[in-house]
Amino acid sequence: MLYNRTMKVVMLASEVVPFAKTGGLADVAGALPKFLGSLGSEVAVILPLYRETRKKGLSLGRVVEHLEMNWSGKRECFSVLGRDEGPVRFLLVEKDEFFDRDQLYGTPKGDYPDNGERFAFFSKAALETVKHLGFRPDVVHAHDWQAAMALVLLRHVYADDPFFRHTRSLFTIHNLAYQGLSDREILEKIGLPDSLFHMDGLEFYGRVNYLKGGILYATAVNTVSRKYSREIQTPEFGHRLDGLLRKRRDRLFGILNGADYADWNPATDRFIIRPYDPTYLDGKKQCRKDLLKAFSLPEAAEDVPVIGMVSRLAGQKGFDILSEALEGIFKRGAVLIVLGTGEDVFEMSLSAAQKKHPRSFGLRIAFDEALSHKIYAGSDMFLIPSRYEPCGLTQMYSLRYGTIPVVRATGGLDDTIQEYDPAQRTGNGFKFADYSASALLAALEKAMSIQRQKDRWRPLIQRAMACDFSWEKSAREYIRLYQKLPEF
Ligand code: ADP
Ligand code: GLC
Repeated sequence: MLYNRTMKVVMLASEVVPFAKTGGLADVAGALPKFLGSLGSEVAVILPLYRETRKKGLSLGRVVEHLEMNWSGKRECFSVLGRDEGPVRFLLVEKDEFFDRDQLYGTPKGDYPDNGERFAFFSKAALETVKHLGFRPDVVHAHDWQAAMALVLLRHVYADDPFFRHTRSLFTIHNLAYQGLSDREILEKIGLPDSLFHMDGLEFYGRVNYLKGGILYATAVNTVSRKYSREIQTPEFGHRLDGLLRKRRDRLFGILNGADYADWNPATDRFIIRPYDPTYLDGKKQCRKDLLKAFSLPEAAEDVPVIGMVSRLAGQKGFDILSEALEGIFKRGAVLIVLGTGEDVFEMSLSAAQKKHPRSFGLRIAFDEALSHKIYAGSDMFLIPSRYEPCGLTQMYSLRYGTIPVVRATGGLDDTIQEYDPAQRTGNGFKFADYSASALLAALEKAMSIQRQKDRWRPLIQRAMACDFSWEKSAREYIRLYQKLPEF
């Protein structure tokens, strides 16, 4: 079956720009719908209404007051706020008991213990909302474990509901490491049959695994780069789900994320001191000065490498090998600037190192949108030493700002960065394969040696800025996949 009319897509994500963000999922869930809309789809994007969102004071209208659904053996109530932006409708599920909290997922000490219940509630409420509004989806597209229960519900609770008779589903895995585990009792709360709790169902080492549910019960599954879609079928990257993913490989795809150049463009960026483009790189120099000042670092000569990082401080992101490499980085005369928040261990080790090297290490433990833009613009190189990386957006952003990526060759980083070849003058960055401090330093050293050769560095910057990862291509791939779903 092909959709000759406008396709209706319901997208579920736990974070969406501009409403709430902790990482790349929010960028994707904010941008992809916009591009699907411009290609002719009608999209409803649904997320929880968090305290963070309320604080932003974005204009939101009341869409539904007091909708009821079965939850935990009784009738539970929630409301929905929202706003329309062209063909995209944003809907936010209001349930203060679950979402009016300081953070999205937990405190610095760890996850909220009721995350399983919070996001299952959100997922069910989202399906009830579209039903109530009469928005009959061709596709329910759920992102990550937080939205996965919607697909389990579609298959096992709403299967006979005529409203969803033609609905197919897609599950996008942005990160296989976060799976969402709850005790068996959650099934009863959600209203799912306990009979799903077995090895070939939702059970995973004695608990309910949400991500597994998404993989099992979605019509098709995708991840956010080709390479990661292959990696997760191996024990090394499979987080104990590689067997299941191999079983479903005929319906497992890799679609690379895009960059939304409306938000990430040095020529129009309102967060940076001087706009610039490939023909006017003087602006970038001003941004570099401004960045060093923002971190109270001394001015740095042109050939001193300023290396930037903007990252969640998590095991995935390579901060253990970075820690080992720090002395080597400073010994080579480079300046390092890190913006990040996350796990205590990394916050502490980075802070200690910063105290030791106050004149060459700029560190800000925070989530700061404006400062992140200053780093993309003002750095010479952008370091991403990830242990694994499903796609990675920061390398795409830094490319657009003419900041040369130095990355570990894994997942989407490997798919988007081609090694610079001085003889051919091709490539857009530098890569290393071994997950080690010495491999990281060797790649940085290569980048630094090219930086010292102006006749090579400047064209490299210009080529980086010309790389095109715009969403339109990826959005078309999603539409093709949506159109194929009825064939599975
Ligand atoms: P991930 O989703 O694994 O964190 P991505 O590279 O896909 O990695 O996306 C990270 C996104 O979050 C980017 O938009 C990046 O700029 C942003 N980001 C990460 N940490 C911070 C921070 N401390 N302050 C501001 N933005 C951040
Ligand atoms: C995840 C991944 C990251 C990816 C992002 C958006 O958080 O860690 O690699 O870019 O999702 O898909």
